[in-house]
Amino acid sequence: MFITGAAAGIGRSTALKFARSGYLVGAYDIDETGLASLSKEIAAAGGRVITGVLDVTDPVQWADRLTEFERESGGRLDVLINNAGILVAGKFEEIPLAVHKRQIDINFNGVVYGTLAAFSYLKATPGAQVINLCSASAIYGQPELVTYGATKFAVRGITEALDLEWAEYDISVKAMWPLFVQTAMTQGVSTGTTNSLGIKLTADDVAEAIFDATRPSKRLLHKVHFPVGLQSKVMTLGSRFSPAWLTREINRRLSHT
Ligand SMILES: NC(=O)c1ccc[n+]([C@@H]2O[C@H](COP(=O)([O-])OP(=O)(O)OC[C@H]3O[C@@H](n4cnc5c(N)ncnc54)[C@H](O)[C@@H]3O)[C@@H](O)[C@H]2O)c1
Repeated sequence: MFITGAAAGIGRSTALKFARSGYLVGAYDIDETGLASLSKEIAAAGGRVITGVLDVTDPVQWADRLTEFERESGGRLDVLINNAGILVAGKFEEIPLAVHKRQIDINFNGVVYGTLAAFSYLKATPGAQVINLCSASAIYGQPELVTYGATKFAVRGITEALDLEWAEYDISVKAMWPLFVQTAMTQGVSTGTTNSLGIKLTADDVAEAIFDATRPSKRLLHKVHFPVGLQSKVMTLGSRFSPAWLTREINRRLSHT
């Protein structure tokens, strides 16, 4: 399993979960200190881990880290997890252009670069899976999280399309949809929706959901989207059945706009 943004938060919990379950884990991030402590923790528990610096916005680093991983894994890549992400909250017009661009580069372009670079390894592995970290903020556009939410709409799009396009190679592509999670990403964030809905999930909750989503399933219908937690499940279901005007009205109220 190969995961980005593994030094902290959801990425770290997920790396630990897969390592405890016997996977060789490739854990990558720009935070070397965080990676070193993760590596120690996995090794101390008897797990297998490779770490390396990977800025997901750099296609050359993607190619290099995947080559290193492949050498250790004997050519297999069962699960690629595109987890690295950043969130900057605030009024759209008050956020500098460079910050909007950075969110797009990491949250969306990073997924494109990585998934493309990993294709040959995924194709060579029977039943390979790509897990993308989407977000409940892609159910409906979110005031004060405008560009962040929009990057997650884009992640939804690449997930759905590639899951169809790569079925012929036996590669499935899935999206995880948590609402707010108690990690560094949401620390100090105060928006209409964080205040009305709270920040309830833990990184371990999401790691468990990711692990479960990768298990072989007996379900008859193919599943692409995995809401995480009760709030996200209710909101996803509600948005499917409510008329557009009502979905907008609910979002207006929840975001206090
Ligand atoms: N926290 C939430 O409320 C929440 C909710 C839904 C979805 N998500 C998504 O889950 C993912 C993980 O979020 P988190 O809450 O664990 O965040 P986090 O801030 O706790 O951790 C993010 C990790 O990504 C790394 N990172 C940042 N930029 C990077 C880059 N350019 N290249 C490689 N690594 C980089 C950071 O160093 C950090 O270790 C993100 O995609 C996020 O959008 C988070």
